[in-house]
Amino acid sequence: MLRGKNILIGITGGIAAYKSAHLVREFIKAGANVKCIQTPASKNFITPLTLATLSKNEVFSEFTTDEENPRWNDHVTLGLWADLFIIAPATANTLAKMSQGICDNLLMATYLSAKCPIYFAPAMDLDMYKHPSTAESLQKLQSFGNTIILPESGELASGLVGLGRMAEPENIFNFIIADLNEKLPLKHHSVLITAGPTYEAIDPVRFIGNRSSGKMGVELALNLANKGAEVNLILGPSLISVSHNNIVVSNVESAKEMYSTAMGFFKNSTIVIAAAAVADYTPKVVSAQKIKKELATPVIELIKTKDILAEMGAQKTSQFLVGFALETHNEIKNAKSKLQSKNLDLIVLNSLNDKGACFQSNTNKITILTKSNKKLSFELKSKQDVAEDIVNTILTKINA
Ligand code: CTP
Repeated sequence: MLRGKNILIGITGGIAAYKSAHLVREFIKAGANVKCIQTPASKNFITPLTLATLSKNEVFSEFTTDEENPRWNDHVTLGLWADLFIIAPATANTLAKMSQGICDNLLMATYLSAKCPIYFAPAMDLDMYKHPSTAESLQKLQSFGNTIILPESGELASGLVGLGRMAEPENIFNFIIADLNEKLPLKHHSVLITAGPTYEAIDPVRFIGNRSSGKMGVELALNLANKGAEVNLILGPSLISVSHNNIVVSNVESAKEMYSTAMGFFKNSTIVIAAAAVADYTPKVVSAQKIKKELATPVIELIKTKDILAEMGAQKTSQFLVGFALETHNEIKNAKSKLQSKNLDLIVLNSLNDKGACFQSNTNKITILTKSNKKLSFELKSKQDVAEDIVNTILTKINA
């Protein structure tokens, strides 16, 4: 979740500053990019060298670096760089100043420039923590949308025992992960996705299949799972393997198997995406033994499979239903007609006439048509980026 994310850690002047080194380590271990800003007073408790070594980045403290080549440490750029900003430890002095918008050092100015979620881990002696002015600062900072990670109770540097110790770095880290998880846009959503081809057996050796790779459906599953949804992915025969804590994969082979597995999840799903290339026909009789070529030229009688998406449209209660339409001609007209006949909320149109939008490709070019007659056209993109466009469109619709 934090891999590749930019984390800014602000360190202020309290004895708990020595624990900030462990906090930096936690974020580095999670694959994040970490930069530290120290207030001048914090350097009495932890050296910039320690933090620079652990974060693998220069540590910032003053507005200017006044050595041989004087340079301005741009607080605006630092603030905008951050995906998350954590001030740990946050002393009573820093809390008071930040709650008032005072900006007499680089950390304060960066705080005022940051647009990302900001967490404060207060650390001070118990009477300072209990003081009404500290309570007022915390309340004010919270009312601005910041999150407070409450201090823990225990032995304090003064020798007194009580509430005021900065939360342990591991607890700060876990708190932030849990908080980010809880705030994900699709938390509490259960998503059902069908993906990949189906294979319709002719005999124990042969089948009727299609060229779908399952890539588009898998990218959708990953995108939705990263946004907090619990995903049930019903995947036809595909070479792609999927591993994500929020994705449960059910591997199926035939259209019949995909139908019964998908319908089992349908009722309890809030969003359903049918991205599978389901066979429309299946052999009426499957030969129990391999059909031998000495026999007369075989004729395979086909019967229609059940249309999974149409059945879902008929049974729909509150599910947000998304279908795909793969067309070679009269694209918009055919997609619109599928949107209506299958009772969908939205349909994603692929045209085989668009270069780079074919089976097995890593790219796709889509047009989204909505129930309310909107048409959104997108450029040719990687399937990962196309998944982002589709999921963002779904999010806009379900939050409207
Ligand atoms: N679909 C399905 N079950 C089927 C056939 C299609 O769930 N037996 C779904 C697909 O996953 C897709 C949508 O229906 O989301 C449209 O599929 P498509 O193959 O484009 O159209 P069909 O309805 O099969 O019609 P046609 O093949 O005639 O274009």
